[in-house]
Amino acid sequence: MKNDRVAIIGCGNIGLSLLQGLLKEKNIVPENITVTRRNIRELAYLEEKGVKMTTDNVFAIKDSNIIVIAVKPYNIIEILEEIRDYLNPEKHVLISVTAGTTLSQIQDAIGISIPVFRAMPNISASVGRSVSCICHNSEGKKDVESVRSLFDNFGTTMIIEEELMQSATILGACGIAYVLRFIRAMIQGGIQIGFDAKTASAIVNQTVKGAAELLIERKEHPEFEIDKVTTPKGCTIVGLNEMEHNGFSSSLIKGIVASYEKIEK
Ligand SMILES: NC(=O)c1ccc[n+]([C@@H]2O[C@H](COP(=O)([O-])OP(=O)(O)OC[C@H]3O[C@@H](n4cnc5c(N)ncnc54)[C@H](OP(=O)(O)O)[C@@H]3O)[C@@H](O)[C@H]2O)c1
Repeated sequence: MKNDRVAIIGCGNIGLSLLQGLLKEKNIVPENITVTRRNIRELAYLEEKGVKMTTDNVFAIKDSNIIVIAVKPYNIIEILEEIRDYLNPEKHVLISVTAGTTLSQIQDAIGISIPVFRAMPNISASVGRSVSCICHNSEGKKDVESVRSLFDNFGTTMIIEEELMQSATILGACGIAYVLRFIRAMIQGGIQIGFDAKTASAIVNQTVKGAAELLIERKEHPEFEIDKVTTPKGCTIVGLNEMEHNGFSSSLIKGIVASYEKIEK
């Protein structure tokens, strides 16, 4: 990985999160990272970090062996057509984080056989806490471990079947927004029962982190841990049941399904 040269084509929200994750982990030196976008001045503040910045996607491709495409679905095909003559099957691994564009659509747009991956990280890649779901074409098989170690810079990495990529987008990439909205609601509740916003945020953030780490470490079902907190006739179960009467679990499930139906359209 130390010798890898990475291009991030389309350094917007997720591209920047990936860049920040790489800069944080320091496994690839900034000089070996090239980022692009059309309004490159937006990234001027990164100059001091040593990252190469350009509007020239072809220059970025020529200078790199791992290419991460992080543009919107309506931009990806034109970019693939722009760079395809410069792709070298002996050198390049192409990774798309663009939602919804399939391996075969990417393959068709570039017209040559090279290792192609789809990856679905989330914005916590910037602090090394994403989960990234990944799938690949047959040419990509030999590169799975190097792509996995690249994405391990952003958190944990899972290899999945391509047919689950839309679901991974909802649960992992959109999922962080659902969790953040949940956190916001808890903070609002905390303020109503007496804490200032800063203290409420600190308590809630750590509580959410603790709950996630508890489940990750113990590998138990959430309800098993909930049983330890709910004293019969106590305040926790009263609150939880009130939330459920108001559709707490149901609204989350319905929201996830609505997002999925939208992405599948
Ligand atoms: N945001 C997330 O949490 C997240 C998570 C996982 C996956 N994704 C997927 O990642 C993709 C990008 O999402 P995003 O939220 O990061 O969007 P975004 O913030 O709009 O970023 C896309 C970037 O692409 C650049 N761009 C557009 N055309 C370009 C071109 N011809 N050459 C170089 N750069 C170009 C844009 O900058 P200029 O206009 O300056 O060129 C923009 O900064 C989407 O498909 C999304 O589904 C997003």
